[in-house]
Amino acid sequence: MQAFISLVTGNDTLVAAGEGDRLLGFAASGEVDGMCWLKELSVDPDVMGAGIGTALLEATAERARAAGFRRIALSTFRDVPFNAPFYARRGFCISDSQSASAAIRRQVAGEVPEGVEIADRVLMIRDL
Ligand SMILES: CC(C)(COP(=O)(O)OP(=O)(O)OC[C@H]1O[C@@H](n2cnc3c(N)ncnc32)[C@H](O)[C@@H]1OP(=O)(O)O)[C@@H](O)C(=O)NCCC(=O)NCCS
Repeated sequence: MQAFISLVTGNDTLVAAGEGDRLLGFAASGEVDGMCWLKELSVDPDVMGAGIGTALLEATAERARAAGFRRIALSTFRDVPFNAPFYARRGFCISDSQSASAAIRRQVAGEVPEGVEIADRVLMIRDL
């Protein structure tokens, strides 16, 4: 819970709310090495597939573009269908994290969940 609270309060967070202000999903983003970095995009499993994730992603991208960012980036699982393929269908391209800056490599490494190989993760970037 503490990790969730610092993720939401320590970043620029957009929230999708339903009836009675029920939390349906959120997108938390910040800045890494001059790029907007999508740190978390998450939707309540009960309402997945209704376009909420796409809407949160596009709203985050639009806000980043308006704030002057030229690229939006994230790290995610290469082979999970609603991870890298989801972002690829929304204009993100896989980028070689080994040749990225130290700050980006640190960010990518810091987002690898415990027990997961870094090779299972990819850096993805979209121009804004
Ligand atoms: C990724 C996530 C945010 C998408 O949210 P969403 O509201 O379901 O997204 P949308 O309704 O806009 O789009 C759903 C897309 O995901 C795909 N999808 C959703 N659940 C899926 C599943 N279980 N298996 C395969 N594809 C799935 C749909 O095919 C659709 O893709 P398409 O429109 O390109 O064909 C949501 O699945 C989620 O919270 N997942 C768990 C957390 C996570 O993995 N976050 C991303 C980490 S970087």
